[in-house]
Order: sequence, then structure tokens, then C-alpha cells
Amino acid sequence: MITIEDLHVIFQTDGGKVHAVDGISIHVHAGEFYTLLGPSGCGKSTTLRCLAGLEHPTSGRILLDGEVVYDSNRGIAVPPHQRDIAMVFQSYAIWPHLTVFENVAFPLREMRPRVADKEIWERVTRALELVQLSGYEQRPAPFLSGGQQQRLALARAICRESPVVLLDEPLSNLDAKLRVETRLELRSLVKRLNMTAVYVTHDQTEALTMADRVAVMNAGKVVQETPPREIYQKPQSRFVASFIGQINFLDGKITAPGTVDTPAGKLKFVDGKDHTVGAEVTVAIRPENLRPADEVNAKFGSLIEGTVEEVVFLGNTLDCVIGVGADKVSVQLHPSNSISPDDLLKVRVRPEDITILAE
Ligand SMILES: Nc1ncnc2c1ncn2[C@@H]1O[C@H](COP(=O)(O)OP(=O)(O)O)[C@@H](O)[C@H]1O
Ligand SMILES: [Mg+2]
Repeated sequence: MITIEDLHVIFQTDGGKVHAVDGISIHVHAGEFYTLLGPSGCGKSTTLRCLAGLEHPTSGRILLDGEVVYDSNRGIAVPPHQRDIAMVFQSYAIWPHLTVFENVAFPLREMRPRVADKEIWERVTRALELVQLSGYEQRPAPFLSGGQQQRLALARAICRESPVVLLDEPLSNLDAKLRVETRLELRSLVKRLNMTAVYVTHDQTEALTMADRVAVMNAGKVVQETPPREIYQKPQSRFVASFIGQINFLDGKITAPGTVDTPAGKLKFVDGKDHTVGAEVTVAIRPENLRPADEVNAKFGSLIEGTVEEVVFLGNTLDCVIGVGADKVSVQLHPSNSISPDDLLKVRVRPEDITILAE
């Protein structure tokens, strides 16, 4: 549905060249909810704007539904209004002087050939129904709440009935509670309309909960692309591991196949990869995968023990930091555990919950 091949965007600034997009290649399937996730400044918006035709790439190729809309070699650059794409921005770009109805109708009124009034009315009514804004047609747009404005922006995008919708951090202006509610609503709406979505966010939870596939970006590059669960459970680099969720890193050395020596002791792991004995690696372990040794048996996995240095009660978890030699390891326990600083804590970790990173 959407293909980007070796896309580069270089901006010339007073401070020199900025390689905002540095060789991105992705393929998004029809009907897929695809997310670009990464820290601020990594090139997410620039990539999205290239898809929409709002940014001029330096080189590369972009195809929409089999049609080449950009090709630097052949000098093809289809202008934005000729690309069948809907876009939702972070700032909803709502017109404050127009009613809800007219905000949604506006892009349809601009379409050529002209769309008949009756059809405009039907499409706007349907779009407002879908985002649950029926009854608000005549209200001036600024008199909507943040969440309603977000849905209005979405209605405007979907009433074009484009097969592709691009969303650039559309939830970031909502308060935390509304953001959580809107996440799944937005995803199911896009799915119900059978649209292909490219969704940009710097929020890992949004990416994990909404996406069919996540592309993690760093410094203009896609560094890992997989379904959300795998991004969390099988990060391929230190960057991805630490960007998504909490994680402990330990220096390690492979001493035998499936065994890594760390400051926390010798740990057994399985990851189905060939590691050279003697290789220096980084060992990554999620805090929730360290289980109190008295709750599991010895077959569960390798033992790590340390002195409790910090305990923080978070309601649903008890987070503690244990000192293991010169290293510190975060452990996430069930809140029913009673544990205090200076206690000795023994935990175990399953071989499959240990990630070996080659850096
Ligand atoms: N028009 C521009 N001129 C110069 N630099 C830009 C321009 N747009 C974006 N950049 C730079 O390109 C990089 C990527 O920006 P952007 O795509 O907006 O990142 P993100 O959306 O991931 O936060 C940043 O370093 C940003 O400062
Ligand atoms: Mg951005």
C-alpha cells in the first residue's frame, strides 16, 4: 500500500546540514496500523510529511497504492492535493471561525470536480456520527473540548474517504486520561473504516497499544521494525531496549554456549543465536522478569542476589534497586512483598527473559 525506498531528507540550516531522514525504507500493508516511534527530532514528522508531499525529499522513492508519487531519479513529485491521503496533525488545525459542520465540510468544498451539497451533507453527517459528534454540527469549533476537537480533526480527515490516513502525534494535546481512552477508539475507528494508517508518536505506550507494527527510529534511521510485543521482548539494540520500558543492562562475557558471566553471576540464557565464546556483550533484563527466589523453584532460572538499596511503593508494584557488586539492578515486585533497605534480596530470571545485545 505504502512503500518508501531509501528516503533521504537533508536540510540546509545556518548550523550546517541536518540529515533529518537518513535512508529509510519501509513497506506498509493495506489496512495496517503502522507506527513510527522515536525520540523528538529523530525524523518522524519529516518522513510523514514526505508521504503527504508536504516536504521535498533529497532522494529516494515513494509509492502509494502502486503509484509512484515521488522518485528523485525520474524527477517525479506528485503535489499534495493529488495524493489520496488524509492527514491529522498534532495541532488539530481546526478553523476557529467555522462551525463543527463547516470544519468537516471545508476540504470537500475545495475538491475538484465539485462535490454536490447533498453529498457533502451526507459525508459530513456520516463522519461526525463515526467520531460521535452528532448533534454538535452547529457549534463553533472552539467551543469543543480537547478530546472533541481531536475527533473533529479526525472526522475531517476521514470524510475525504481516502484509503490512507497519516497521523502526527494526534493525541499529544489531550490530558492523560483522555489520551488513554482515545487510543483504542482511534485505532478501532481506523480499522472499521478499512484505512491504512501511518501513526507518528514519541510515546511508547501509544505505539505498543495501537500499532500492528512499530518502526523504532533514531537519528533519521529505522533501527528496528516488528510487532509491538517483539519490540518490547526482543529489542535488538541498547537504544531500542532502553527507549521502550525499563530495563537493566549488565556487562557480560559469553563463557559457554547459553551462559554469560556478569557482575551479578553466571546467567543461563536461550535466544537461538550463535554467540562466540569469549565475546563481550551487554545483558539486558526487564525489572518485572526478576522474580523473588522464594516464589519460584531453582529450575525457574539463574539466581541473582544483592542488597536492597531503595524501595519505592507505586501502588501496583514495589520497585526496588539492589546493589550487585558495583552494579545496580532494578527489580519490580508485587506490592504484597515486604522488603526494606539493607535486606538481602534473592531473585531468579528465566533463560528466555535474558536478552543478549552485541554492543
Ligand atoms: N524545515 C526544517 N529546516 C531545518 N531543519 C529541520 C526542518 N524540519 C525539521 N528539521 C530538523 O530535522 C530533524 C527531524 O525533525 P522532525 O522530523 O520534525 O523530528 P520528529 O518529528 O521525529 O520530532 C530535527 O533535527 C529537526 O530540527
Ligand atoms: Mg514531529
